[in-house]
Formats: sequence, structure tokens, C-alpha cells
Amino acid sequence: MFPQVDPTSTSSWQALLLHHEKIQKVQMKDLFAKDPSRFNRYSITLEALLFDYSKNKVVDETMTLLLQLFTSCKVDVAIKAMFSGELINKTENRAVLHTALRDFTSDKLIVDGMDILADIRSVQKQMKDFCFRLHSGTWKGFSGKPIRYIVNIGIGGSDLGPVMVTEALKPYTISGMKAFFVSNVDATHLAETCKQINAEETLFIIASKTFTTQETMANAHSARQWLLQQGALEKDIARHFVAVSTHEAGVKAFGIAPENMFVFWDWVGGRYSLWSAIGLSIACTIGYENFEQLLHGAHTADCHFAKSPPEKNIPVIMALLGIWYRNFLGCTSEAILPYDQYMHRFPAYFQQGNMESNGKHASRDGKLVSYATGPVVWGEPGTNGQHAFYQLLHQGTDIVPCDFIAPAQSHNPWGNHHQLLLSNFFAQTEALMLGSAHADSNRVFEGNRPTNSFLLKKITPYSLGMLTALYEHKIFVQGVIWNIFSFDQFGVELGKVLAKNVLKDMEHDEEVTTHDSSTNGLINFWKKMRE
Ligand code: F6P
Repeated sequence: MFPQVDPTSTSSWQALLLHHEKIQKVQMKDLFAKDPSRFNRYSITLEALLFDYSKNKVVDETMTLLLQLFTSCKVDVAIKAMFSGELINKTENRAVLHTALRDFTSDKLIVDGMDILADIRSVQKQMKDFCFRLHSGTWKGFSGKPIRYIVNIGIGGSDLGPVMVTEALKPYTISGMKAFFVSNVDATHLAETCKQINAEETLFIIASKTFTTQETMANAHSARQWLLQQGALEKDIARHFVAVSTHEAGVKAFGIAPENMFVFWDWVGGRYSLWSAIGLSIACTIGYENFEQLLHGAHTADCHFAKSPPEKNIPVIMALLGIWYRNFLGCTSEAILPYDQYMHRFPAYFQQGNMESNGKHASRDGKLVSYATGPVVWGEPGTNGQHAFYQLLHQGTDIVPCDFIAPAQSHNPWGNHHQLLLSNFFAQTEALMLGSAHADSNRVFEGNRPTNSFLLKKITPYSLGMLTALYEHKIFVQGVIWNIFSFDQFGVELGKVLAKNVLKDMEHDEEVTTHDSSTNGLINFWKKMRE
């Protein structure tokens, strides 16, 4: 049974409230001065990945209480429930099994009487065969030329994961291939992409779990029209369009042949879907073998998460620290700061991951929660951020816990660039923690500002898979402790429904009076402006 514990009813939560008073005045720099082993005691390695959480406003008692909270909220039971395929996404009556997509070690996983591992392997084989045909040049476009351009049309989880990974792993791009990602319903996104590609050498991947998403369907139809305008015939569509979806009928209705469809299943959440056939654009761009390495890396993180004791468990510690700052120190946002240009979409990916999963106000027993849930998650790569928003991180009135992420080795070891980059990473975490005194208050750095540091040996498909899965599991642990449903997203529905109503009012010329005066005013003003 999936646990359902109000975290505020636990003695550890109450103890943390009291403990928070005690720790208010604690300075991290004093903790480091007193304890030379703090780094060793407050860091965890997973293969070649280092997670250093020593620069946090925590002492041993804090960690003990947070770990007690983990136990009281029965997160261990929840972890087992997820991995075993229980229907833990209760509001949608679904299992949550993205971990199965990267499980190469189990033989069987029965869900609803079906062995889902067999289904997964079969789609993986289909993806592998497809990549082989594409990269060997046997799959040809309408003029007989092989495919060079991959255009993924999708949005949200059907876009952010593929784009994040494809960008992060750009050095692994198959020679001659180029990937594009079209998500926005603003035609500019598609139009500007079409300026950079040749229809005869382009494959459009229509990626949509539901195959009903307005933006994706509009872009898919326009892409199809564009292809026909470029000289392709109806019969050529099959060579230039494939689909990834759970909705076979929708794909068929669009006109994509069943053999050009890659399925996935309702137990894969949209924002956790890059590991499924939604990752087809990744595999087409960096090769199937590299895609598989990504899955292997994620599986290593899954095993670590499922088997390590909580005090040595990276996602558990990440989650508990996040709860400490959110619920006991009142922090409203968290920043993810990759010191790697290729990782520039990693913060945006986990913005969706966190905010769509844990931006919830109803508890698992249907009541409104009395405590804060998911924070705002944002970020940009270093060192650009340093010249933009780090001012607020150092001297602003809000404390923003930050994750710093960097590879020890660069894919582009030009001169001393990488040392310059990493010197900024290390110095920023030091400066945020130490601060600096000054007679002039404008120049004072209070310091005592928390950071986590992640060091990877190099950004590879394997290490990126591992890091990404660690962040996913952090979201899971927090959702369990906050006693919310992390795998639905009802909060996106109202806007979609109202947009449909508004669209109807925009399709005629009469004055609109059925909304509030602001919405009426905006629509009517637009009607005049467009003339
Ligand atoms: O609008 C939110 C959402 O449902 C996301 O959860 C999802 O990732 C995205 O839209 C795209 O949905 P689909 O893959 O069904 O097109």
C-alpha cells in the first residue's frame, strides 16, 4: 500500500520546527572550521559522480531529523511500490514505471497481467532498427537522398527531455545529422526551423503521448503542408513522418502508417518519457548505442536509489535538503546551475520535472495541504548567470539554495577555458558560503548561502543518464513526503479549456462581451488591431 502520511503530524516534522530555531544562527564557515571531516562526511559518490552537500545549513542533528522524517513518511515503502508497478498515480489510475524503460537486468515485470519488459524490448528493437536504416542511408527521403535533418515536433515532456539530452550530448552527434525541436504553437518556431532544413532530407518525428495536444497537432499539420509545398507527394509522407505516442488511433487518423509508429504506454509520465520512444529524436541524432548508454546510466541511479540506505542515498539527501529549505527555512525557489554549456537546457527540463510534478495543493487524502510544496525551480548555465542574477544569490533578501553541476573534463579542452570555468564554479560556492565583511553595507556579503555541488568526470550518455535519474528520484521522494500526487498535472487543464472558448470568440467579428472586462477588452482590442 502506498503510504499516506501527513508530514506535519510526524514527531520529526515538529522536532525540525524546533530545531530550525536552534540553527538560525549557525554559520556554515564555523561548521567547516570545527570539523575538518565535514566534506568527507557530507558527500557521497556514485561511480565517477561526486555529490557534495557539505555547504548546507545543516548539522548532524538536522540530518538525523530529516532522515527520521523520511522514515516516518514511509518513503521506503513508496519506493518499493513505484518500482514494483503499483498503481501509485491514483488520480489517473496508472503505474509509474519509467524506471522499467531502463532496466536491462530484470527478466519480467508484470503489470495488469502483461510482461511490460517484453513490450519495452520490442519497441527498443524497433527504434534500433529504424536508427540503423536512417544512419546507413537505406531510409531515403522522397528524392532518394538519405535523411540528415531530424525535426522533433512535441511540447512539454515530449520536447524538453529530447532537447535537453540532444543538446547536452551534442559531441556525440552522428556525423551529418542535425536535430531541431519545434514546440511552440507560434508559427515562427516551425517557420524558422524550415528555413534551415531541406524537405527532401528531413524526418519529422511527431512526439505526443496523447496525440491531441493543440500545439503539436497544429505544428504537425503545418509541417506536413510545408513538405507537400516543397515537392513531396502524399505517397511520400510515409518517408518523412513518424510518430511516437500512446494513442494509436490518433496517429492513424493523422495519416501516419502503423509501421511508422513507435508506441509507449500510459505508465510513462510525459515529463519522465525521454527514456521511452519519446527519445527517438535522441537516438536518431546521437545513435541508438549512445541512447542505450543513457538508459544504462539511469539504471545505475535507479539501483542506487532503490538499494542504498537513506543516509547514503543521493536523491534522498537531495530531497531532504530541499524540504529543509522549503518547509523550515522558508525558501521559495531553487536554482540549477550547470557549468557546462552543453547542459544549458537541464534547468528548463527539471523546471517542468519539479514544477509539474510537485506544484500541487491537494494532499493524497483529498484535503488542501497546510504546508508549502514544490518551490519555483529555475536556472541558467554558469558563467553566464554570474553576470546576470548571481547578484541576488549573493546579496538578495531571499535565500536561494543552488545546485552547481560540472564535468571535470571538457569536450572542448581549448587553452585554459575549462580551468577558468571550474575556478568560477568552486569560487562561487565558496563565496556563497563564506561571504565577506565590509564597513560599507553595500559591499557586505552575508554568506551562509547553501549549495550542493555535483562533479561528473565528463558529460557522457551514461553519466547524463545517471544524473538525470538522480534528479527524477529527488522529485519522487519530495512528493511522497509532501503527501501529494506527483504524477498527474491537472493544473494545466483550465488554461487549455479556456483557450478553446476564447478561440471561438476570436473567430467572428462581433464585439465580445461574455468574459470579464479585461479579457473582453483584450480580445476586442486585438480585433481592431489585426485589421
Ligand atoms: O500540458 C502539459 C502536458 O500534458 C505535459 O505533461 C506533457 O509533457 C505535455 O503536455 C505534452 O503532452 P503530449 O505528449 O500528450 O503532447
